Amino acid sequence: MADTMEHLKQTDPEVYDSIISEARRQADGLELIASENFVSRAVLEAMGSVMTNKYAEGLPGKRYYGGCEFVDIAEDKARERAKRLFGAEHANVQAHSGAQANMAAYFTFLSPGDKILGMNLSHGGHLTHGSPVNFSGRLFEVASYGVGDDDGLIDYDAVRELALNEKPAMIVAGASAYPRIIDFERFGEIAREAGARMLVDMAHIAGLVATGHHPSPVPHSDVVTTTTHKTLRGPRGGLILCTEEHAKGIDKSVFPFMQGGPLMHVIAAKAVAFKEALEPTFTDYSAQVIANAQALGAGLVDHGFHLVSGGTDNHLLLVDLRPSHDELTGKDAEHALESAGITVNKNTVPGETRSPFVTSGLRIGTPALTTRGMKEDEMRRISDWMAHILEKPYDEDRIDAVRAEVREMCDEFPLYRELSTA
Ligand SMILES: Cc1ncc(COP(=O)(O)O)c(C=O)c1O
Repeated sequence: MADTMEHLKQTDPEVYDSIISEARRQADGLELIASENFVSRAVLEAMGSVMTNKYAEGLPGKRYYGGCEFVDIAEDKARERAKRLFGAEHANVQAHSGAQANMAAYFTFLSPGDKILGMNLSHGGHLTHGSPVNFSGRLFEVASYGVGDDDGLIDYDAVRELALNEKPAMIVAGASAYPRIIDFERFGEIAREAGARMLVDMAHIAGLVATGHHPSPVPHSDVVTTTTHKTLRGPRGGLILCTEEHAKGIDKSVFPFMQGGPLMHVIAAKAVAFKEALEPTFTDYSAQVIANAQALGAGLVDHGFHLVSGGTDNHLLLVDLRPSHDELTGKDAEHALESAGITVNKNTVPGETRSPFVTSGLRIGTPALTTRGMKEDEMRRISDWMAHILEKPYDEDRIDAVRAEVREMCDEFPLYRELSTA
């Protein structure tokens, strides 16, 4: 790809260099951030295309601007493929991000001051599910549910009781750091019993849902939102799914309520990613994502680490460092691993005793490394390296030795080769 960036190199060598350096960083390290992935070259090309030039407020066939006949093709493809991928009646592919997809979903059904019941941020929920520092916590009244301190699992009876007592206008299910299957059917039943709308934010697990590796929330919800860039392996962006009944309301909440013109280059890239996700190879990929998370988890458990909920059913692991490494914070563990070329993020854990900036846990995910072609053997080796580093996180010799081995493994699984070797 470097050959296709000659104009950028000439015009703005500083930004060009930053992009090449980022490509090298991605290629030379082990990316284990659960919310990240590596898009295909086809998706990259669509994103870097002339579609960025086009204003297309409105929807295909009903735009406020002329000259939309070709962007309409791309958006129609994205909408059709999203519907097919998730068995949904309606798809809006214009939300710029997951947070904005959630905002549009809320405002389709709620007014400021209404109550939502979402998962607590420190238990694995997302900022947009009612955090006081987010619009959701500022504009709505919020009640929240969490996971059990002992088992790390959502207690559906407790959610039901909360829902019946709090009488929220909407229940929000979905998480940023929950390693187990979420029972969307049960959530749907609770919402119906409590007279609440049901929003499922499947941002993290959308790729697993698309391929049948996680039960779908679509039949049990009024509205389903997702990002397109995590397990779904598309460009950064949002997607909203709903029944025909709510289609107009959702579309209007995205535009003109919340956004202006859609990002047509990103929508074209979403269409490409959805096409890729409909291929049988993506189903194999998703199965491998889970197998890899389970292999990495088993390796960490063998080294004495404690996994919240005891393991994983999906693409991520949540490690509680306290039982095995009482003195080690999530922050310091993240830093030590990063120095060795292993990128994870610190995360709060159930019953957290430290601040969210320090934490006692790590969140680890396998979508990105699985895209590079890594399998269970590599995951085992990575768990050995993690254990070795975290046993002595300030030992520079250890960090250097692991860094060299990480680099060798990365070379065996090249990524964006033309770009990172420019
Ligand atoms: C569950 C969940 N919802 C929404 C979002 C927000 O997505 P974005 O960063 O695209 O706004 C995230 C991102 O991490 C997420 O994990």
